Amino acid sequence: MNIARKNIYNVTAYAAGKPIEEAKRQFGLKKVIKLASNENPLGPSPKALRAVKRALPAINRYPDSHCFYLKKKLSKFLNLEQSNLILGNGSDELIDIIIKTFVEEDESIITADITFLEYKIVSQVLGRRVITVPLRYFKYDLASIKKKIDKNCKAVFISNPNNPTGTYVSEDEVEDFINDLPEGLLLVLDEAYDTFIDVDDFPRSIKFVKRHNNVIILKTFSKAYGLAGLRVGYAIAAPPTVSLMERARQPFNVNLLAQAAAIAALDDDSFLAKTRKVVLEGKAYLYDSLRKLGIAYVPSVTNFILLDVGRDGTEVFKGMLKFGLIVREMKQYGLKNFIRVTIGTGKENERFIRVLKKVLEGHS
Ligand SMILES: Cc1ncc(COP(=O)(O)O)c(C=O)c1O
Repeated sequence: MNIARKNIYNVTAYAAGKPIEEAKRQFGLKKVIKLASNENPLGPSPKALRAVKRALPAINRYPDSHCFYLKKKLSKFLNLEQSNLILGNGSDELIDIIIKTFVEEDESIITADITFLEYKIVSQVLGRRVITVPLRYFKYDLASIKKKIDKNCKAVFISNPNNPTGTYVSEDEVEDFINDLPEGLLLVLDEAYDTFIDVDDFPRSIKFVKRHNNVIILKTFSKAYGLAGLRVGYAIAAPPTVSLMERARQPFNVNLLAQAAAIAALDDDSFLAKTRKVVLEGKAYLYDSLRKLGIAYVPSVTNFILLDVGRDGTEVFKGMLKFGLIVREMKQYGLKNFIRVTIGTGKENERFIRVLKKVLEGHS
């Protein structure tokens, strides 16, 4: 007899990047470098770290359910109203809240075939149908997505930039897409990696929220601010849209330390600048080294790069692991001959290139 709801049997659980401690245990290694989850290689924002230490004695208390001070700070930072904001236990939770709030059981979401897995996983757990549209040259194909939208479709999820390909859709493309979208269809622009953008035509998407009730932007403190372990992200939307999402939110979803850290991180301009510099310099180094090794990659506007290793990516991932280097295999995304690497510090990137070369040359 099946004990779970029917949908659960169709779900493949999210396979997270391998934790450093697990790799150490498994291979008896002292030093392991993790370039698998697009985290900040410089650690957390120092201002956030100090704020966490100051907040620690208060963890006997529940956190502020409404994230009052964080919302206040964010609204100033973004030049928006507090009523435009809802905080989440990572932007992961906001994806869940969006689907629970807006997508009926007989409705579907639409997204790309190779994109952030959570859109699909959350929908499947909740029993909502997922329509996927192939990427075009590793990029979201908005024209084809538009053609596939049917009357049961309730939300479009666009990872912009796209994880795992690192490509983006431009402001003009989003503008064209938004025009004449069916009424009642939500457009979710997931901008987890927006801080790393190094192009001019990336959407200034807040203007879309100001014009349309049906646009939701997702942001996170996990990447550029280095707070992945604390879990805090937010959504920006029109106040009526936010107020509906509030009904599906757990009361104490953002923990006390995460709120304190996020408030402080927003003031840490120098950390953000340093992070961007490390990512941009690291990317230039990796591109150059990969070209020299003859390894094809997808040009990225993010802090990670998708590589075509020309053979089973899982084998390459396993080979690199033995040398204490964790990258991401891409099997779950349907990209058999690829791996994804997060841009690390200068030293980490050099080590990555050395180990990749060894593994591809067949050393083990
Ligand atoms: C595109 C995208 N959206 C959302 C997330 C989730 O981020 P968070 O840590 O805020 O839950 C990630 C994390 O990898 C991501 O790649």
